[in-house]
Amino acid sequence: MTSPAQAQPHGAPQEEQARGAFSSRRVFILAAIGSAVGLGNIWRFPYVAYENGGGAFLIPYLVALLVAGLPFLLLDYGIGHRYRGSAPLSFRRMGGATAETLGWWQVGICAVIAIYYAVIIAWAVRYTFFSIDKTWGADPDAFFFGDFLEMASPGIGLDFVGGVLWPLILVWAAVLVIVVAGVEKGIGAVSVVFIPLLVVAFLALVIRSLFLPGAAEGLDALFTPNWDALTDAGVWAAAFGQIFFSLSVGFGIMITYASYVGRRTDMTGSGLVVGLANSSFELLAGIGVFAALGFMAQANGVAVDEVATSGIGLAFVAFPAIISEAPAGAFIGVLFFGSLVVAGLTSLVSVIEVVISAVRDKLDLSRAAASLAVGVPAAAVSVLLFATTTGLPILDTADHFINRFGILLVAVVAMLAVSWVYRDLDHLRDHLNATGSLPLGTWWLVLVGVVTPAALTYVLVDELRAVLDEPYGGYPDWLVNGIGWGAAGGVLVLAVVLARMPWKRTVDLSAPSKEASR
Ligand code: ALA
Repeated sequence: MTSPAQAQPHGAPQEEQARGAFSSRRVFILAAIGSAVGLGNIWRFPYVAYENGGGAFLIPYLVALLVAGLPFLLLDYGIGHRYRGSAPLSFRRMGGATAETLGWWQVGICAVIAIYYAVIIAWAVRYTFFSIDKTWGADPDAFFFGDFLEMASPGIGLDFVGGVLWPLILVWAAVLVIVVAGVEKGIGAVSVVFIPLLVVAFLALVIRSLFLPGAAEGLDALFTPNWDALTDAGVWAAAFGQIFFSLSVGFGIMITYASYVGRRTDMTGSGLVVGLANSSFELLAGIGVFAALGFMAQANGVAVDEVATSGIGLAFVAFPAIISEAPAGAFIGVLFFGSLVVAGLTSLVSVIEVVISAVRDKLDLSRAAASLAVGVPAAAVSVLLFATTTGLPILDTADHFINRFGILLVAVVAMLAVSWVYRDLDHLRDHLNATGSLPLGTWWLVLVGVVTPAALTYVLVDELRAVLDEPYGGYPDWLVNGIGWGAAGGVLVLAVVLARMPWKRTVDLSAPSKEASR
């Protein structure tokens, strides 16, 4: 335990300087958008929307955004901005060692996500180049699973796949360079350059797709509602899961980024900008992707649902087929896969920064040392698991379980703990209102303290029932129990252990006074 005599007070100038900071609100907003807009928007949203009721999915999606996503985004901002630390440090200051467990739980979730997220970016790097000469030939499906991933069929294979290994190492090297450079010079600088670039590239892609013959049928398929879907709890679970993953809320990212923001910054107005920018980008991605699928369906004389396969297939199988057939296909391909790389990279940086920031705070390491201590083992696990011939099922299972029984579960527990155990919601509201342009009223307390946790608990119980009835994805037990439950449960056990380890850093671990935190 740190002795108060040695400890630096919360947010002391030396402490803030050592942790790093964004130079302005603009840089923070761009970094937060960079984190939010990622594979979740381009790779995940279109197929999740399509599989869960098409146009009708937009209703649960908007409800989830308004009642859960935005209020929780502001909660994360409030925690990071008031307590001025990584997720474990912020929760520690809020509620002591037990609360710190929540922070480490979020850190563990980020570690798991980073490990598989990097591999999808690595695939996109290769596919950006494949688009130029359409390397996949006449059968993109066989190419992706066979030639490119060399998937062991059937069963397990742990041989390295060279075509994935090298781009994956490259992705991790790029991420490490960015995080070692620091909050402003690394994360901030990359976001300021990449986000405008991404917007321009993606707009060009969407406009090109909208002019393809058959685009209207694709949009019809996406937006024609299947109203029955609204009575399916799984659809609501998908909407909440998508919003949380996509907005980067609930797993420590926004707490960490908010801790790097100046004390007088308008956090509520910033949250609104980030949330709306993220959802606009998501809808744009849905429109672009489905316009292109409409083209593909028309070209082959089939219905859109025959070309709109599940997530991984959509990006790496259906899109190559479109690129092969569309006029100026190489242009579409480079824009699509290039956008995936850029959007993915700025998100991956934010995911791994949660872990780095926590390790720095706890162990008092320099930024470079913490980045290497976290980044090198994460890259090694990423390579060992996902640059092999069994990578794909492991990735799919880890993604599903860590989203549902990681992100959504920790979100419910955090909301309930902050509201009812640590009774900190009022303080956070006052803190945010002191400098914010969007005043938070009682409605915010009710949403964060009651409505959202109740809705999330309902969808989680339903999910649990579904996954106990039938193993996820029809995969073998060892995969579902070992990887799925192992990842979701393992991060929780690790969190309990880490929260009990002593702090090496001489920071004040007690809660700031109400006035001092403003
Ligand atoms: N928010 C990030 C994404 O959507 C993690 O991919």
